[in-house]
Amino acid sequence: MLTPTGELVTAARARGRAVCAFNVITVEHAEAIVSGAEAAGCPVILQVSENAVRFHHGRLAPIAAAARAVAAAAHVPVALHLDHVVSAELLDQAAPNGFGSVMVDASRLAYRENVAATARAAAACHAAGLWVESELGEVGGKDGAHAPGVRTDPAQAAAYVAATGIDALAVAVGSSHAMLDRTARLDQDLIVRLREAVAVPLVLHGSSGVPDDDLTAAVRGGMVKINIGTALNTAFTGAVRATLDDRPELVDPRRYLTSARTAMAGTVTAALRLLSAGVPD
Ligand code: G3H
Ligand code: ZN
Repeated sequence: MLTPTGELVTAARARGRAVCAFNVITVEHAEAIVSGAEAAGCPVILQVSENAVRFHHGRLAPIAAAARAVAAAAHVPVALHLDHVVSAELLDQAAPNGFGSVMVDASRLAYRENVAATARAAAACHAAGLWVESELGEVGGKDGAHAPGVRTDPAQAAAYVAATGIDALAVAVGSSHAMLDRTARLDQDLIVRLREAVAVPLVLHGSSGVPDDDLTAAVRGGMVKINIGTALNTAFTGAVRATLDDRPELVDPRRYLTSARTAMAGTVTAALRLLSAGVPD
């Protein structure tokens, strides 16, 4: 069932566990994420990034409609989130397309400009009934908040949340987007200091590159929304390769997309069992 993102995040935080948000590129991603979540018995967030919208010829509506339909038929609570949004035009399309939340991404701007742009966008999104996440990295960071080595300062994070009125904060604590191996090490002390400094829930991006033990420690330390994208694509592409290596004569995409969808669902179930299911030890 389609559920507001804020409800899932609040419930996860109250349980001391995380809600995982997985990136949707194709309809098979959405189907796999929901199957994986149903197998784990956990709520889940389907998130569509501005990059994915660009892949769909710049149109949000088709992939949003697919994700919405898959979410509506699910046997677990499913939220829809629009991720890493830079374009104001795209932000305006979030609520009409059924999204319950957005991530306003002004993280490449210098601090003052990030605050001004995010506060403006957050006010507009709140007026449309959306839950708003945004991101703060290093002051003046040139490579975005999730370049390796970038860190969010707790005092600045507290000031940023107060000045922007956001509902959740994505922080830079050692993860990095699109890693193909799981070698990132998170700054666990910083996660605890950020949780103590900031009233809103914390969000971890670039989680595909983080090993299981660091992810579980991060959730114990105060991370509530865990964003996972690349791990699904690794599973998808690995399964397609293996299927076609084995059966090079196949031409019907349903044959190899079935294995891709199954592989992605397995990745989702494993992550949810680790980070979302049950109660903390
Ligand atoms: O917003 C999406 C995530 O940060 C995904 O990052 O692809 O490195 O897991 P990832
Ligand atoms: Zn991200």
